[in-house]
This record gives sequence, C-alpha cells and structure tokens, in this order.
Amino acid sequence: PEPGWTREADVVVVGSGVAGLTVALRHAELNPEAKVLVVTKDVLGAGSTRFAQGGIAAVLDPADTPEEHLNDTLIAGVGLCDAAAVRALVTEGPDAVRRLIERGAEFDRTDGGELQLGREGGHRRNRVVHAGGDATGAEVQRALVAALHERGIEVIEHALVLDLLKDAEGRAAGVTLHVMGEGARDGVGAVHAGAVVLATGGMGQIYQSTTNPLVSTGDGVALALRAGAVVRDLEFVQFHPTVLRVGEDAAGQQPLITEAVRGEGALLVDEHGKRFMDEVHELAELAPRDVVAKAIMRQPGQVYLDGRHFGEEKWRTRFPTVRALCLEHGLDPAGDLIPVVPAAHYASGGVRTDLHGRTSIPGLYACGEVACTGVHGANRLASNSLLEGLVFAERIAQDIEPSVRRAVEGTAPEGLCDPRIRPRIQAHMSRGAGVLRSRESLALTAKALRDARWTPVKVDPRTEAWEATNLLTVATVLTAVALAREETRGSHWREDHGERDDERWLGHLDVRLTEEGL
Ligand code: SIN
Repeated sequence: PEPGWTREADVVVVGSGVAGLTVALRHAELNPEAKVLVVTKDVLGAGSTRFAQGGIAAVLDPADTPEEHLNDTLIAGVGLCDAAAVRALVTEGPDAVRRLIERGAEFDRTDGGELQLGREGGHRRNRVVHAGGDATGAEVQRALVAALHERGIEVIEHALVLDLLKDAEGRAAGVTLHVMGEGARDGVGAVHAGAVVLATGGMGQIYQSTTNPLVSTGDGVALALRAGAVVRDLEFVQFHPTVLRVGEDAAGQQPLITEAVRGEGALLVDEHGKRFMDEVHELAELAPRDVVAKAIMRQPGQVYLDGRHFGEEKWRTRFPTVRALCLEHGLDPAGDLIPVVPAAHYASGGVRTDLHGRTSIPGLYACGEVACTGVHGANRLASNSLLEGLVFAERIAQDIEPSVRRAVEGTAPEGLCDPRIRPRIQAHMSRGAGVLRSRESLALTAKALRDARWTPVKVDPRTEAWEATNLLTVATVLTAVALAREETRGSHWREDHGERDDERWLGHLDVRLTEEGL
C-alpha cells in the first residue's frame, strides 16, 4: 500500500521492550539533538519484557567472575555461541545493570542493602538479579517507560511495522507502518530515518502453546527476510520446561513458572511423586533448559513441580507472581503439586548481527530477541536475554552514526494471508516442529504451511492479516532450516538424528530470501 502520511526521524526504533527502549534512551542521551522515534505495535509495555519473571544474569557477586558466566553461557549454547559476543555480554553486563538501576529500576536487596542474587538453570553461581520476587520484567519495563517519558522521546503506539524502506544504494532509510486509532497518523504511513533499529521481540506465537504474549508474531524477522537481510539459527527455538499445565489443548500465552523456583530448590517429580532429573544431569533440576524440557517430554505421565516445602510465606514474598497464577487456576503451591509442561519460550536465532548490532543491510540494526548476536548459540542460558537487550542496546546506541537521511526508493508490498490461518500454523508447528521433531514431522509441517499460503481469499489489510503473513513467513523458514539440520543440538532435537554431529554441523544456517526463494 502507498503511505498516506510520512514522518522524519534520525533514528526509528521498532519495538518497546528492554532492547528498544534502552537503544532509544541511550542514543538520546548520547545525542541530545537527535530525533529518536519509537514505534510499537500495541501499547508501550505490551511485549515480552514485562512477563520476564526470573531476572537478569550478571556478575555482581565479588566471588563470581565474567569467565565463569562466559563458560556457563558457552556450555548452554552447545558449540554455537560467538565467544566474542559472549565476552561482551558478560564483561559489559554488570555496568549495563548498574545503568538500569540509575535509570530507576529497583531490584530486590538483602537486609544489608546488597542485590539479592538468585540461581537458574545452567548457572553454576547465584547471579540473577530480580525485582518484586519474580516480577523482574514488569519492573524493568516500568522503569524504562518512565525514563522514556521523562526524556520526552516520541512514541507512536498501535503501529505495526510492515516493511523496510531503502535508499538507492540499498541502505535502510525508514519503515512503513500500519497505524490504528492514532488520529492524524491513522492508516499506512512511512517514517523516513537515517537508521532503523528492529527490537520487535520474539515469535513464540508461531506455536500453539507459548510463554510469549499475543504480539510476539515474528514481525521483525519477517520484515528482515522480506528486505533481504541474513537470518541465522532460526531452528533453535527454546522451550521453557515449566509452564503451568492448564488443560489438554491449551493455546496461546501460558502461565510461566519461573526457573528461579527450581533455583530455590523446587523439585521435578513424575506422576508417582518420584524425582527424575538427578538421574539425567549433574545439575539435576538446574540443568540447561533443553535438557530439562526433553526429560519432561520423555516422562510417560504428567510431571509436577514440588515446592510445597517452601511454605506459604516464601511463596508469598519470593514468588508472588507464580503463586497468583497458580491460585487463579485453583492450586496453592504451598500445599499442591504444580502440573507443568514445556512451551515455546525464546528464539535463540534471529536477524544476524555483528558485535555492534549491525545486520547485513547497512543502516539496519537488530537488538534483543529479534536479533542473533551470537550470545545464545543453540540454546540460551536462563536470564541472559534481558541482559543481551541491555548490553547490545548500549552498543547500538553508540554505533548509530549522526543521521544521514536519504531519498527513499519505494516499498515492496506483499500479498497478505487470511488471518484465519493463524491457529492452523500454530497447530502444525507444535505438532511437527516443536520440542521433538523429525524429517517426517518437519516435512509434513512444511507441506501444511505451503498449502496454507495459497488459500485464495481477498484479505483486508488489517493487523491480523499482517501478523498471519509474518507468522507464516517465519514458520516456513524455520521449518526449512530445522529440516536441513540433521543432528540434535541444544534446543533443536531431531528424533531421527539423535546425536550431536560436530563434524557436519558445528556451524550456522544462514538464510536470505531472494527472488529465487530461500
Ligand atoms: C524464567 O524466569 O524462568 C525465565 C527466565 C528466562 O527465560 O531467562
């Protein structure tokens, strides 16, 4: 569609979670004259950040070292982390957390005023800062939104990003947006900008059951693919081992039971009340997530979390969010076992970037879950995601050049999908490209997605149609790369290739859409 309105900015940041807001704030601090514009699909704060429970991993205990955090991250990433990116993450992480505190975030402290440090899977030290017990993301989001308002950074809400605009040399020059209910800017419009930062979050909604909110529809990865950017490691979707099992065919966003519950000593037990993780991994319940999720899937019956020994007071103070979610579903975690099941949680891959958040398209940056910076490899370490958003946002904010706005070449409108295909995509992805996958299941999913694409209907250009189109684009590419990787590694578990194969597969699958296809 032709843009009905245009705006100018030096930098347009697409997305308003920890990554996007930190880029915007930091760039504005460093360049007070710059016009920074944040655009976001729903309202500020509707994305994944506010649902993060566990916390932010960073070396803040004098007994801990960046080297140890680096090692834990590399082990979780099963050979595919970029060591330089991880080094940046763990060495710059502590200062990034301190800056967040200066911006107003309040984390839980000991009676002596020190930051309380929790533990999660894959960490051999206590290094996870948290807020409100298990409401860390909500506090991070609150503090960043307040800082954004205080600095007077402009925001356009209800603005779904459509496509990247480029100049004659192929450099990013802005984005097109579909805005709803925002007065003069309603409808399809364009923001022309010297730099574009994608911070659109994840894609959990390609699956039927996920910890991600409704807005996590892979919009940034889909935009990047349409624009011809390189996307990396899409097959590595992390499944969180423990969401509350609310029913047989639970669909949509599921109640997360933070891993910090296991960090505090809750146990996983089978349907007979018998512990099983101690026989699977030396870290038992605190093994990396892929190990725990797979072990749960291998259990023949229902698996439960047992935190009854915490007692009511600890549940109230340390895990108020989880306790409230359980109570909503008729369970009191101080007295009941909590039925749990894995659900899609985090895209370890995404739009490939270098150490400064630059994608393969000049002027286009990616930050946070939408990006593949190399810090997560084949499986992200718990509580490294908010940290990644903070650290790489700082790097991007510094890297963006003073604005050079250029003439825009025009957009590349896409055929839109019927929004009714969304549940079909989710069901096929969960069935064939979930925690367990095989050549056969992936091939069936790929075929189902191909069939879904060609449903011939006339579609109104509404958010639901753009989202369905993005979900289908991302799901199709994810399935293709998952089919190609014939081994089991990290969160990618092939039943027909059950072993890790370093000889053939110690590398990345980079993809780019061209006129000929993938
Ligand atoms: C959790 O609290 O278990 C989620 C933390 C994360 O995904 O890093």
